[in-house]
Amino acid sequence: MNLKQTIDKLYNTNSLDEGEILFLLDNIDDSSLEYIRQKALETRIKYYEDKVFLRGLIEFTNYCKNDCMYCGIRASNKNAQRYRLNKDEILKACSVGYNLGFRTFVLQGGEDPYFDDEKVIDIISSIKEKFPSCAITLSIGEKSFESYKKYFDAGADRYLLRHETASKGLYKTLHPNMSFENRIECLYNLKKIGYQVGAGFMIGLPKQTNEDFVNDLMFLKKLEPHMVGIGPFIPHKDTPLHGEKGGDLKTTLTLLSIIRLLLPKVLLPSTTALGTIHPKGREMGLLHGANVVMPNLSPVEVREKYSLYDGKICTGEEAAECRSCLENRIRSTGFVTDMSRGDHIEWEK
Ligand code: 5AD
Ligand code: FES
Repeated sequence: MNLKQTIDKLYNTNSLDEGEILFLLDNIDDSSLEYIRQKALETRIKYYEDKVFLRGLIEFTNYCKNDCMYCGIRASNKNAQRYRLNKDEILKACSVGYNLGFRTFVLQGGEDPYFDDEKVIDIISSIKEKFPSCAITLSIGEKSFESYKKYFDAGADRYLLRHETASKGLYKTLHPNMSFENRIECLYNLKKIGYQVGAGFMIGLPKQTNEDFVNDLMFLKKLEPHMVGIGPFIPHKDTPLHGEKGGDLKTTLTLLSIIRLLLPKVLLPSTTALGTIHPKGREMGLLHGANVVMPNLSPVEVREKYSLYDGKICTGEEAAECRSCLENRIRSTGFVTDMSRGDHIEWEK
């Protein structure tokens, strides 16, 4: 099979074996990237028309007990200025977002033991009480089955937990004192409980190869998450990986298109990290199969402190500016913003 035939097979069957994926990644050139992009676009339009879902991101704590080698809010980074939003500040951010039209709030934070189950549940139920029409997405890391279940019962709808890399060896070098097996188990637990689940990985990590991406893609195909978050690795100055090279645009766009074809109905964000490595990165992501964007709703005062990588965009803008900036960017691609909850199309709670 040549490149075009491989892409056709992926488009027609939504699957490839490991060797075929590796062949595609090893040999993709500009014209085959354009071909797979068109197939990815066709596929997302078949299921989600020309809609792009918007989610309001609230980064409510940058304390973290973990020490991921790539991440700017790792516990060992003494230069990080730590902050926590309290419940009222979180509700205020939701209220600003609600008035701008958002119907999904993504609560993201480091793994911060201060927010124990009781506090998390209180926040979830308060948001649900005030904004019953809105979906809540949690992105707060690895917890026990019981904790995940309690958050779900309190009203959380979705959970993002990127697997970061599906290659165990690479995972281990990047995540001191963490367990690859536990992370994967968390993802299966979340699915079992009934969340709409998001996995995902970074692109361009030190020593990462196309074989590693094959592992990521095979893992995603097996897990069948409702959402997949991918973005380029971008070095942060206060981490052990500060001098490394980051992920590139072309590989990220290629992987977005492959993921759209492997999991045709998936909710696939065009991420802030992609917008950070190229001024039109998020627009290009949408044109390669992504169908979600996540503007920042965090109070402007804390945005710069939620610094996972250097150069993060959108740290100086108000929520309203972010919304209209993104709306313009989405319009420039020919898509339309959709402010509904934007559940996965096969979702019934
Ligand atoms: N570059 C790019 N993405 C990063 N993340 C964390 N640190 C970095 C970095 N330096 C991503 C991880 C995490 C998500 C919230 O942000 O994939 O899951
Ligand atoms: Fe935040 Fe453009 S999306 S300013």
